[in-house]
Amino acid sequence: MPDAPSTTFDTAESWAHDADHADPIAHYRERFYIPAIHGRHAVYMTGNSLGLQPKSARDIVEQELNDWGAHAVDGHLTAEHPWLPYHEWFRGPAARLVGAKPGEVVMMNSLTVNLHLLMVSFYRPTPQRHKIVIEDDAFPSDSYAVASQIAFHGYDPATSLVRLKPREGERTLRTEDVEAYFEREGEKVALVMLGGVNYLTGQLFHMEQITRCAQKHGCVVGWDLAHAAGNVPLRLHDWGVDWAAFCTYKYLNSGPGAIAGAFVHERHANADLPRFHGWWGNDPESRFRMVKDFAPVAGAEAWQLSNPPILSLAPVRASMEIFNEVGMDALRAKSVRLTAYLEFLLGELLGDRIDVWTPTDPEQRGAQLSISVRGLSRQTQRALHEDAVVTDFREPDVIRVAPVPLYNTYHDAWTLASTLAGRLKD
Ligand SMILES: Cc1ncc(COP(=O)(O)O)c(C=O)c1O
Repeated sequence: MPDAPSTTFDTAESWAHDADHADPIAHYRERFYIPAIHGRHAVYMTGNSLGLQPKSARDIVEQELNDWGAHAVDGHLTAEHPWLPYHEWFRGPAARLVGAKPGEVVMMNSLTVNLHLLMVSFYRPTPQRHKIVIEDDAFPSDSYAVASQIAFHGYDPATSLVRLKPREGERTLRTEDVEAYFEREGEKVALVMLGGVNYLTGQLFHMEQITRCAQKHGCVVGWDLAHAAGNVPLRLHDWGVDWAAFCTYKYLNSGPGAIAGAFVHERHANADLPRFHGWWGNDPESRFRMVKDFAPVAGAEAWQLSNPPILSLAPVRASMEIFNEVGMDALRAKSVRLTAYLEFLLGELLGDRIDVWTPTDPEQRGAQLSISVRGLSRQTQRALHEDAVVTDFREPDVIRVAPVPLYNTYHDAWTLASTLAGRLKD
């Protein structure tokens, strides 16, 4: 469906129903469990926090439980999906999701762990170039991770950690201001680590432009794609990104604390980088010969440490099978329209009673809208939950809502906006 200008939207409930009937990917909703609150199907708008469970996940996990019971150690070779090469299945699907070549992505660990493992390799401070650049409102775990890396190398976060702030009176960063920073200070920066989509404001950064600009000044560029993977189209290889990490429990619907992903650009595949090693990063040809010297797999899999937790990887497989089928192009087309529709409704029904923090330009956002209700966001979020509308609250004053194109409907957006309008009338 082509992107429609917001002038074609309408506040009538029937418009939402018609849009759902015309939605070519509406049937994917059936593939997910929708939670219930007070006996009603929830309007679930928090796929940016924890995605819904694909119905196929249970069978895929059960398959591994059954194979474990039936085959025990032999399952490494004889399970329906043998465990020895289990992680290799993800090469294609994960690479497609983030716009990488198959050898550039690996599914392993959790997100913060991957950020640290990649910083071991890609944060190489020197007295002339020791700074790490993040957004001022970066996710706290990212702030803690980079500050601890700086301290680990004997530098002081007070002087080596740079937090880019929006202009006075603005909520989001302007690309031109980010670029101006690198023009001025780039030669002191060792590493840039921004969130591709900021968790708080929902701002989607111009990743290619920022990557190229920072690299021109000699900086290494990594992205935290927790809120971008499965949400917006990514082309990490073509953009020349050095490395990235992402979780799979948000838009990738793989379950609480699910196994994360890591991307390393192929130009670093054989580079002489410091790296922490474990046996699953070793060339499979010699992995079981128990040789003493480490021989890395070429590519991102060299960063793998342990043999993969099959029961945790299985739901990621369930999710990626769905992404393989539907494709990011179809998801993004619906997402742009659905989020614009929700923004239209909020504007029409609530006007200046709320403040939308997220940029209006679709090129600068994914599914999420971050809104605040003058000093009342926390109470409002709780009230919405009573009405079976699930949103989330983040300090200082933000309700985050993400109409997820895989399973949210236009009618969900309509219900959210009209319920919020009803609550704010009280
Ligand atoms: C942007 C961002 N970075 C890091 C994290 C931390 O993730 P994990 O607990 O999987 O390490 C989150 C969690 O939501 C996040 O949103």
